[in-house]
Formats: sequence, structure tokens, C-alpha cells
Amino acid sequence: MMSTMVPVLLSLLLVVGPAVAQDTQDGPYSLSFLYIGVSRPKADIASFQFTGFINDQPFLHYDSKSRTAEPLGPWEQVDGMVNWENESQLQQARQDNFMEILKDVMGYYRDRGNHTFKGTFGCEIRNDNYCGAFWKYAYDGRDYIKFNTEIPAWIPLQPEAVNTKVKWETEGSAQAFKDFLENECPDMLRNYLQFSRPFLDRQDPPSVSITSHVDQGNIRTLKCVADNFYPKPISMYWTQADSVVEIKSWGEGPLSENGTYQSWVAVKIPSSDRGPYSCHVQHSSLAQPLTVTWNKSQ
Ligand SMILES: *[C@@H]1O[C@H](CO)[C@@H](O)[C@H](O)[C@H]1NC(C)=O
Ligand SMILES: *[C@@H]1O[C@H](CO)[C@@H](O)[C@H](O)[C@H]1NC(C)=O
Repeated sequence: MMSTMVPVLLSLLLVVGPAVAQDTQDGPYSLSFLYIGVSRPKADIASFQFTGFINDQPFLHYDSKSRTAEPLGPWEQVDGMVNWENESQLQQARQDNFMEILKDVMGYYRDRGNHTFKGTFGCEIRNDNYCGAFWKYAYDGRDYIKFNTEIPAWIPLQPEAVNTKVKWETEGSAQAFKDFLENECPDMLRNYLQFSRPFLDRQDPPSVSITSHVDQGNIRTLKCVADNFYPKPISMYWTQADSVVEIKSWGEGPLSENGTYQSWVAVKIPSSDRGPYSCHVQHSSLAQPLTVTWNKSQ
């Protein structure tokens, strides 16, 4: 089948955005945490793990094997942001508390065996102001309970979770959870930002390459790959002459070890087509879109 052409103007409307970084907005920035507890871990795997994120970047890790909170990635080079001894003690206490909750929940289900409990919470600020938060738990991958900051209250998402709601709102007040999410968490984030902005605000431009592959005899797949860029938002499209070529498949990678992203878009053309076809990439790190062109003679 021939590649479908779309008028170039139509598609450009979708990809035209600010060519350089951001406007005067500061943020949003988020601080979030993920806990995972497993009742019967395989040998050598920690029963409890805790990871902290600033925006999309993991900066802190703790698990029940090491019993030590440790910095991750670029935060290994940062001094004074976290008191690691205190953080380790705090996480040891959280581990005990979290594994206790998992035991309680298994009790509500009258369940033994191998079960997983996952908790996640966090907050967001924009222009230095609090602008949102969440706190929720899942049992064996199903939503179990979540916090509503408006009421404030814990909302059970399974019949069994009513027990958890009653327990938590009796042991402490829902208002305390709200205060934590709306005040303490943003304060913690503001403090962390003083140390973390260089990693969060960095602009790593993509390197762009094209691969060509002939499948099924007479169809060629042209894949345009953008590599090693940060932050994540990117737009990529293909053109031939003045027209945008319809994307047949696309994909993206998770944040890599070196803290960057990968993304690709592919088009299909007749193998006899000599081109040229061009891949255009727009990213906040680039003053103008990057264009790489493919010809059959290559
Ligand atoms: C229990 O479940 C977890 C999560 O699915 C898994 O990683 C672990 O290996 C399981 N434990 C056993 C003993 O199979
Ligand atoms: C660490 O914990 C000690 C004892 O609880 C406390 O006095 C100290 O202020 C904490 N330090 C920080 C930086 O939080």
C-alpha cells in the first residue's frame, strides 16, 4: 500500500510549539514515592522496597535487604539534601508499618500465600505554590484505597478496604494526612529543589538517526530514532516533498540509566521508492527542528 499523505500544514499545527524551553512558568515540579511490599518474596529479593522521585527521576532508594536509604543517579553527587542516617531510620520504621498493613489486608481477605501491596503518594508545586497531591494503595495490582484531600477522607475501593479506612482514621485524623500532602510534602519538595534544579531543568538535545529495513519483499520501513534527550516531551514526524507522511508505528523508551529518553517513529514506503524522505524532530533543547533525510542511494 502507498503511504498516505496528509497536507503538511494540517500536521504542522499539531507540532508547532514554543521553540525554546518554557515560558516564564516555573514548574510544575513533583515529589512522589513508591512503596512495594511482598508477603513471600523469592530468596534474594527484598520484601520491601521504597523509591523516591523528583519529577520523573528516581533520587532515593531503600530496601529491606540493605536497610539503608541511598541516593540514586546524579543525586549521588549531592551533599546536604538528605540526612541519610535519619532517612534510613525513617524508612526502617515505614517498612515495619507497611508490612504490618499488608498483613492486616491479607487478614481482611482471609488470605495467606504470596501477595503484593503497593503504595504511592506525592505532591506537585507550580510557581512555588501547592497544586495537587495523591495517595493510594493497590493490593495484588487492584486499586484498594485512596485518599481524597477535599473531604478529607480515605475512600475504600474494595469492600475489604473499609477496615483499613476505619483503622487509619481512628489511629490518626484524615486532616493529618491532608496536612502532610498539602504542606509538609511541598516544603520537602521546595527544599529538594534547591539541590536538584540542575538535573530537572537540564536540556539534553536528541541525536537523530534513520534506519531502513525491507520486509515482505516490497515494503520498506524507515525508522527515525531520537536518542539521549531530556526532558521527555518531543515531537517527531516524517515528510516527503511538501507532505507529511502518515506514521505507521512509534514507540518510546523509559528513562535510561543515564537519565535520558529514546523515542522513534516509523513509516512504510514501497521498496522501489528512492525518496528523499525527511524526519523532523522538535524538542525544547533545540532552537529549531532537527531534520535528517534518507535517500535510497545511501
Ligand atoms: C511473590 O510475588 C512477587 C510479585 O509478583 C514475586 O516477585 C515473587 O517471586 C513471588 N514469590 C514467590 C515465592 O513466588
Ligand atoms: C536527624 O535526627 C536527629 C534525631 O532524631 C535530629 O535531632 C536531627 O535534627 C535530624 N537531622 C535532620 C537533618 O533532620
